[in-house]
Amino acid sequence: MTATKRIFSGVQPTGNLHLGNYLGAIRNWARLQADYECIYCVVDLHAITLPQDPQALRASTREVAASLIAAGIDPKGSIIFNQSQVTAHAELAWIFNCVAKLGWLNRMTQFKDKAGKNRETASAGLYVYPVLMAADILAYKATHVPVGEDQKQHLELTRDIAGSFNDAYGVDFFPLTEPLIFGEATRVMNLRDGTKKMSKSDESDYTRINLTDAPDLIAQKIRKARTDALPLPGVARDLVDRPEANNLIGIYAALADIDRDAVCAKFEGAQFAGFKNDLADLAIAKLSPITAEMRRLLDDVSHIDAVLRDGADRAQALAAPILREVQDIVGFLHP
Ligand code: TRP
Repeated sequence: MTATKRIFSGVQPTGNLHLGNYLGAIRNWARLQADYECIYCVVDLHAITLPQDPQALRASTREVAASLIAAGIDPKGSIIFNQSQVTAHAELAWIFNCVAKLGWLNRMTQFKDKAGKNRETASAGLYVYPVLMAADILAYKATHVPVGEDQKQHLELTRDIAGSFNDAYGVDFFPLTEPLIFGEATRVMNLRDGTKKMSKSDESDYTRINLTDAPDLIAQKIRKARTDALPLPGVARDLVDRPEANNLIGIYAALADIDRDAVCAKFEGAQFAGFKNDLADLAIAKLSPITAEMRRLLDDVSHIDAVLRDGADRAQALAAPILREVQDIVGFLHP
C-alpha cells in the first residue's frame, strides 16, 4: 500500500468552468496540495460518453488545464494531465468492467439522469462511466478523492470494485479510497433558481458566473440574480426556505472564507440590492486575478501543452507498475 496520502480527482473538459466548479472543487484541490501528493486529471475519455465536437474538446481541455493552473495548482509539484494520454485508465477500466456487476451499474443515478428517457440510445460508455472513474482512481492507488455530493455514489462503487477485485483474486492490492466531501458552503446554486445547481449546461448564461467572465459581466450577473423581498437575516438558520438568498450569502461566505453566520452578522437587516454590490466587489476581487492568469496562459497554448505532456509522463510512470501488477494478479502473461 502507498505510504503517502495520495489524491486523485478529475474534471470534465466540456465547456467553461464556472464559480461552482471553482468554489466546489478546484479551489479545494489547490489547498489539498499542502497535505497530499495530488494528481488532477482532465477527463477527456469521460467527456466522449456524450457526443463532443473534436475541436471544442481540444479547446476545452486546454481551458480547463489553464484554469487549474490559474487557480493555484502547481504543475511541477502536482500532476496535471489529460486522461486519454495515459493508457492505463482505459486498460484498467476494461479489467474493472469484468469485476463490476450489472446490478451495481443499474443503480447509478447519474446514468439515469444523463440518459434520461433515451436509455436505448445512450452509449455503452455512458453506462460504464463510473467503472472508468474507478480505474482513474485506482490506477494510482489513490487514498483520497475530493468530490462533490453528486459523485459520492461513484466513489462507493469504486470501493466496491476495489474490494471485489481484492476478494476475487485473494489479494490486498487496491486501497478502499476515501471520499473527501467539502462542506455545503461550497455548493453553488443557479443564480436564477436557488434550488438547482449552477451548471455549464444551463441555457441561460445569467444563471452562472464563468471563470472567464469580465468584471462588468460578473457585477451585472450578480445584480440580476434572483432574490426575495426580505432583508438579510441575522443568522444563517433563518435562510431555510430562501434558496436564492441562501445561495448568494453562501457564495459571499465561500469567497470570503468565513461561514454564513458571519456573513449574516455582518449584513443583518441590509437589503439585497446593497449586499449584491458588496458581493460583486468581492467576487471580482477574488476572481479577476484567476481570469487574468487564465487569459495569459491561453495566449501560449504551447506552454499548456507542455504542462499536460509532462503531467502525462509522470502519471504514466506512476500507473505503469501498478497496471503491470494487476495484469500479473489477473493472470495475463508477460511473454
Ligand atoms: N465524474 C466526475 C465529475 O463529473 C469526474 C471524474 C472522472 C472524477 N474521474 C474521476 C472525479 C475520478 C474524481 C475522481 O465530476
